[in-house]
Amino acid sequence: MDSVQVYGGVPLCGKVRIQGSKNAALPVLAATLLTRESSTIYNCPKISDVDGMICLLKSLGMDVCWEEQGIRISRKTFRAKSMDAEAIKGMRSSLCLLGAILGSCGEITMEYPGGCMIGARPIDIHIAAFQKMGVAFSEVNGLLHASAKHLRGAEIELPFPSVGATENVILAATMAEGETFIRGAAKEPEVIALCSYLQACGALITGSGTSEITVQGGRPLYGTEFTIPTDRIVAGTYLFATVATGGCTLLEHAPVMQLDATIRVAEKMGAVCHICSEGLFVQAPERPKAVEIISTAPYPGFPTDLQSMALVTATLADGMTVIRENIFENRFRIVDELMKMGANIQMLNAGCARIDGVERLKGTTMTARELRGGAALLIAATAAKGKSTISGCKYIYRGYERIENDLRELGARIAGV
Ligand code: EPZ
Repeated sequence: MDSVQVYGGVPLCGKVRIQGSKNAALPVLAATLLTRESSTIYNCPKISDVDGMICLLKSLGMDVCWEEQGIRISRKTFRAKSMDAEAIKGMRSSLCLLGAILGSCGEITMEYPGGCMIGARPIDIHIAAFQKMGVAFSEVNGLLHASAKHLRGAEIELPFPSVGATENVILAATMAEGETFIRGAAKEPEVIALCSYLQACGALITGSGTSEITVQGGRPLYGTEFTIPTDRIVAGTYLFATVATGGCTLLEHAPVMQLDATIRVAEKMGAVCHICSEGLFVQAPERPKAVEIISTAPYPGFPTDLQSMALVTATLADGMTVIRENIFENRFRIVDELMKMGANIQMLNAGCARIDGVERLKGTTMTARELRGGAALLIAATAAKGKSTISGCKYIYRGYERIENDLRELGARIAGV
């Protein structure tokens, strides 16, 4: 179904199991290219971005199959000289294959990974880091060609803690000769998950989760079994859905230790959040409180991927909230849709929104244009009074395993159309 219909106004109550993390699964799946032995990856979310990554791995000659519990991956007839152009163009999150392929065979020709609705998504930081490691880049017939006759470890300073660039350098560095030292590395939990998988394969990596990561290259990597951690952004999505609808939920297996900044914002909005053995218990206030300012930042700051969900919740708050987006240049795309629902939002500049909360949103027809904004529109529809129809749900299915069923099981009146 690419469209759903929602009759909103019902508080979300009950429990929801949090899926495996999309942004941890993708680099881990790419990392399986680095070992000649097979790996089994458990708790991979069944989402279209993972399907896309599996297609790319198969197009590279990897043997990939979903088994009862997980995905079993082994190198069959690995050929990495070029990737399926259509697939790579359509999926930004395949960029981590660049580091894995350079590490495993030293050469790749690929489409420039596209930008998307939230920003231009340049790869200059990736390219500069790889050039330090001896990778030469050129453009061949409009395609990006990267090759490294001799991948060498290097001292790399990232000008911004890019998650993807950090992951790409780590992937290539495991196979480079000598030591790679990354200064200014991303601290996101997804980087830690990638390092944990590689360490389970035999890599020698220190400093993951900090801004300084060291990788000893050239060690043989073996197959392993690995479980993907649960998704902090999906957990945060349901957290804000609970607050926006005045509900009460238990987010089962939520990665609570990764949600500090998110929980802090929800508590400022009046939610009572209780960490328990099953995950995170959330009791919403009758009406969200306004938060003076919410600013997105690299981890452990407030995640940019939850900015849209906080925005929706702020449209219903009692007072004025300012939201500042500091990571991507175009992440307020849902403002127009929310205004159609009766929200009162003023863009102070391209990266800053002022939200004066209203008592209620009214259902309307909306279009999802990107993953997290689409999920936020679903939350808005669930909180609004009356009927909403949301098209473009294919974007939402990129990252959410069963969001319609989850919301329905929490009491939302939602159906595919
Ligand atoms: C990862 O994207 C996530 N995607 C994003 O989640 C997440 O929003 C982002 O990290 C920030 O946390 C995956 O992990 C698959 P960045 P990534 O490199 O690696 C600029 C979702 O919804 N930049 O940390 O692409 C870039 O333009 C997605 O699940 C450069 O300028 O993010 C952006 O402004 C959306 N040059 C900022 O850095 C570069 O070479 C952060 O980008 C690389 C990045």
